[in-house]
Amino acid sequence: MRGNGKDYCQLDRGAQPGKLLSGSLVVYNKFPAESEKILARCKDNKEYLFDVEREVFGSSHAKVGEKLLKGWGLPSSLCEPVSFHHRPKKAKEFPLATKITHVADSMVDEMNLGTSGEAVANPVKAEILDELGFDELPIEKFENEIKDQYYTAMSLFL
Ligand SMILES: [Fe+2]
Repeated sequence: MRGNGKDYCQLDRGAQPGKLLSGSLVVYNKFPAESEKILARCKDNKEYLFDVEREVFGSSHAKVGEKLLKGWGLPSSLCEPVSFHHRPKKAKEFPLATKITHVADSMVDEMNLGTSGEAVANPVKAEILDELGFDELPIEKFENEIKDQYYTAMSLFL
């Protein structure tokens, strides 16, 4: 693993959109029957939610999340990373925050924190990890901090 802690503590602020990926909740609430089928299909076939949603709905939780955040008046620096968290190379204005969100999304799935609906963690291309200065998902490096923040946030709601 490469990179120094200070740089990534600063970059971590860019990963905040990862906590705002609420598009799935909107989709599940609006289309419960279809969503149940999609989730079962992803679980049974180890398919990616993003891909199956696009196939079935012609859109995904990522786009719904972006629209939701825009509707709340949140800035593009949060909306774009949410919109492209499965396709980080598509980001135009905030590519670094989008790549960080992409990696963070995969990390929390790998760590089984929360329920994004993904049956399997989204793959992160080596090229993206390399651009962020990592050889692999930096779970070990950030595990304690992520869990502390996750459980603190959950304690506010539960
Ligand atoms: Fe996602």
